[in-house]
Amino acid sequence: MGISLYSQCFFCFICILSIFCITNYFLQNAYSQCLQDQRSLLLQLRNDLIFNSTRSRKLVLWNQTQDCCNWDGVECDGAGRVISLKLDGEGISGGIHNTSSLSALGYLEKLNLAENYFRGQIPGGILNLKHLTHLSLSGAGFGGQVPIEVSLMRRLVTLDLSYNGLEIENPNLKMLLQNLTRLRGLYLDSVQMSSAVLNFFANFSHLTTLSLSGCDLRGSFPNIIFQLPTLENLDLSFNQLLTGSIPQFHRNASLRTMFLLFTNFSGPLPNSIGNLSMLSVIDMRNCSFTGPIPSTISTLTGLIYVDLSWNFFTGSIPSFYMSKNLQLVDLSDNSLSGSIPKSLFGLPSLQILRLSNNQLSGRVYEFSTLHFPHIVALDLSRNKLEGQIPKSFFTLERLETLKLSYNFFNGTVQLGKLQRLHNLVELDLSYNNLSIDTSITNTNLSMFPQLFSLSLASCNLHNFPDLTNQHSLGLLDLSNNRIIGEVPNWIWEIGNGTLVFLDLSSNMLVSLQKPYHFPSSLIHLVLHSNLLQGELPPIPQHANYIDYSNNKFEKSIPLNIGDSITNLRYLSLANNSLSEAIPTSFCNATELEVLDLSSNKLSGSIPPCLVEKVEQLAVLKLGGNNISGHIPNTFSVNCNLEILDMSQNYLEGRLPVSLANCKLLQILDVGNNNIDDGFPCMLPSSLRVLVLRSNKFHGQVRCSRRWTNLQIIDIASNNFTGYLYTKIFSGMMLEKDGRLGSDYIHYNRQLAYVEGYYQGTVKVIVKGVELELVKIFTIFTAIDFSCNNFEGEIPDGIGDLRSLHILNLSHNTFVGTIPKSLSKLTYIESVDLSTNQLTGEIPRELTRLTFLAVLNLSHNQLIGPIPSGPQFQTFSTDSFQGNIGLCGFPLNISCRHVGEEDNVSPPDPHQEDEAINWDYVSVALGYVVGLGSILWLLFFSQSFRHKFNDQTEQAFQKIYNAKNRRKGHRGRTNRRRHC
Ligand SMILES: *[C@@H]1O[C@H](CO)[C@@H](O)[C@H](O)[C@H]1NC(C)=O
Ligand SMILES: *[C@@H]1O[C@H](CO)[C@@H](O)[C@H](O)[C@H]1NC(C)=O
Ligand SMILES: *[C@@H]1O[C@H](CO)[C@@H](O)[C@H](O)[C@H]1NC(C)=O
Repeated sequence: MGISLYSQCFFCFICILSIFCITNYFLQNAYSQCLQDQRSLLLQLRNDLIFNSTRSRKLVLWNQTQDCCNWDGVECDGAGRVISLKLDGEGISGGIHNTSSLSALGYLEKLNLAENYFRGQIPGGILNLKHLTHLSLSGAGFGGQVPIEVSLMRRLVTLDLSYNGLEIENPNLKMLLQNLTRLRGLYLDSVQMSSAVLNFFANFSHLTTLSLSGCDLRGSFPNIIFQLPTLENLDLSFNQLLTGSIPQFHRNASLRTMFLLFTNFSGPLPNSIGNLSMLSVIDMRNCSFTGPIPSTISTLTGLIYVDLSWNFFTGSIPSFYMSKNLQLVDLSDNSLSGSIPKSLFGLPSLQILRLSNNQLSGRVYEFSTLHFPHIVALDLSRNKLEGQIPKSFFTLERLETLKLSYNFFNGTVQLGKLQRLHNLVELDLSYNNLSIDTSITNTNLSMFPQLFSLSLASCNLHNFPDLTNQHSLGLLDLSNNRIIGEVPNWIWEIGNGTLVFLDLSSNMLVSLQKPYHFPSSLIHLVLHSNLLQGELPPIPQHANYIDYSNNKFEKSIPLNIGDSITNLRYLSLANNSLSEAIPTSFCNATELEVLDLSSNKLSGSIPPCLVEKVEQLAVLKLGGNNISGHIPNTFSVNCNLEILDMSQNYLEGRLPVSLANCKLLQILDVGNNNIDDGFPCMLPSSLRVLVLRSNKFHGQVRCSRRWTNLQIIDIASNNFTGYLYTKIFSGMMLEKDGRLGSDYIHYNRQLAYVEGYYQGTVKVIVKGVELELVKIFTIFTAIDFSCNNFEGEIPDGIGDLRSLHILNLSHNTFVGTIPKSLSKLTYIESVDLSTNQLTGEIPRELTRLTFLAVLNLSHNQLIGPIPSGPQFQTFSTDSFQGNIGLCGFPLNISCRHVGEEDNVSPPDPHQEDEAINWDYVSVALGYVVGLGSILWLLFFSQSFRHKFNDQTEQAFQKIYNAKNRRKGHRGRTNRRRHC
């Protein structure tokens, strides 16, 4: 028994001993004690480094255990040599340059110094580590050119130099990397390399990740890189000058993620994108892709994230029926059409679906919300969707964003029915054909506790929805409804001061319920186009954008208005009945960029400090008031004015010479005043629109300066004399394509929460009709020199103003013949040469002017037959009367007895003077590219307007606001010389 016991104990002892030995053996190999020299090198490194000990999680703890291989961030090999050093995010700000300790750690294979605060070049000490396979310096703070030594680090498998201030220009990318063919992961995001050529990557047979975001890459991206057999992740985003196209993909292609956003890649997506069976993320937003989205993309089962927004894709939306893992689909801002595939509302993982700003049409049918459980954001706005909004939308309980605005959805929506959407943050139902029933039964409940943004513009609202319990509401748009009565004062209390943006414009509101206090959170307040009356409401203290225009506010503007509006950038009080002087306190509103006080009853003079101190001012509109005195000659040398409108006042004296300081001035309108001056040759060459109409300007129009951007010059009804020089309009000579483009003068600095732009407006007067060009298209050009004392011949050079649309030289004393060169004005729509002393015949060449809609040659001394041509058939006798020598249609004078040609068509006795030959008009319309001609026809032919379809009429209404001059704003009589 004893022996047995003894032997058992012995056996135990042997066992324990051997376990100890074995463990010790393994321990020694796996975590061998670090070598003494390695330990002291690490300690020396630590001493050299300058780091923030409160941020450091590793370096601060070094030295606490004996075995340096156990230190955080340190890894050794079996022999106790340090092979990996990971010091990312340690708050290191220096000390690496002067040290040899790092380069002495010669066995290092992995080095990570990411997210630190180094400065200067990448030190050679790092680059001498010949065994390195993994180097990460991402966000480490280095700058300058990446040194050539990198090219010697032939063992590198991963190289990450992203997000420093680095550049790779000389030596260039190829010289640095072409021999590092073992690379699998290369991250150079934000390294500047505008001259990089990338073809050499074709030799990189192991490359799995190539990340070159924001590298300023230029030129064409080599397709061969897409086809590298091992490539999984490609990121070329934010290289806006990088062009390229997507090649065919082979089966077994290994791409998983593809980031091409904000590049200039273009062309179609190939059907073979369906071969990318591993693809999970594709982000191509803001490129220039065209053509359809291949339906093969729907077979990719691994897709998680698809963003193809802001391209030019056409055709229908793919069904994605096999992509059950999709979490995000963003196809907004393309030209996709057809209906929304039902399968999209059955994608079980989808969280974000954005299809806004396409041409999608048809109904959206009900679906089972069980199969669509995760949706958080749904944006279908700006399409052509119709029918009822599916009730299924209102049961998607996780929904935070629902945007359906600018469609043709119809029917009634009861806000109360949205009760289940208690996570809603943003709801936009504006601009459909909806009626919203705002009655909420249980008002004690805060229905949408998270709701921040509610847009119900143009929703047939007749009263304010009860929002008293919406504690998070910051943005409320109830514009374009039929709300009558008072603005309730609870609206300012919403959420106890969360309201930032409020738009109640275009309703029928008459007053603000008193007492009221604007919340200090309010930044953007739009009340225009209501029936608000009485005194002007105060300006909310922190407001940035205020529009009180188009109401019935009266009395004076508070004298201290400018002292309290230090943040205000946009203020419009236009079209009210405000009286008395412009308060000088406006001069204290130094951030003001747009000030519109036009069309009121303001009097007094313009405060000189206004144009001197408010240097940010870009738009100043004081037109249509009773302002008198001189325009102050105090325009600051830092003048930023782009649009200056002082028209229709009683201003006198001279145009101030300091206007020359306004080097950005595009529109100057001082028409209808009493200004007595010569032609303002000092005006800056930036000028596009100059209106001096109906003043007392005099002298010759002759300057050495040329306004190459000038589009509209209206100096009618003054006392100008002398010859007509065409050189000052040389801008109109540019061979533009003459069409009305979308490029118009506008003011578009970012304002508050909207992309606010302030359109330049100017009035053009033709045939007694005043047109207000709300948008001045940069291609719209007009010359109006009528009612002056110009003399001599109309120069031939007039024909060089190729993009001219309107020419009015009437009521002068021009002599000589009508220049044949007028026929070169291909886009001309209106020519008025009436009441001059022109002689000779009407040039036949004028019949070539296919866009000509208005011609007035009356009251001259013209002779001979009126040429016949398509356009000429549409002119009435008014165009030619008062010329004793003219004959032929439409005048009732036959040319036979004048002894001229016989082929002039005799007037049809049944045809009325005003009639238009519709065949010719439609021929003209067939050629119409310039929208302008349609517009002119609309204006000058009542019967044409009736025949024209409503839609175009609406479009036209939006572009032009026609006002009959005789029914001027406040019935002010024209006190000028009538001409
Ligand atoms: C790359 O390697 C080739 C041959 O191995 C050599 O001739 C060339 O100089 C190397 N280039 C660089 C930049 O190191
Ligand atoms: C709504 O629109 C659909 C199709 O666009 C139409 O058939 C239906 O009559 C409309 N309903 C109402 C109430 O206007
Ligand atoms: C501008 O504000 C100051 C005080 O902030 C005031 O003293 C001054 O009168 C104001 N200027 C004008 C023109 O109102």
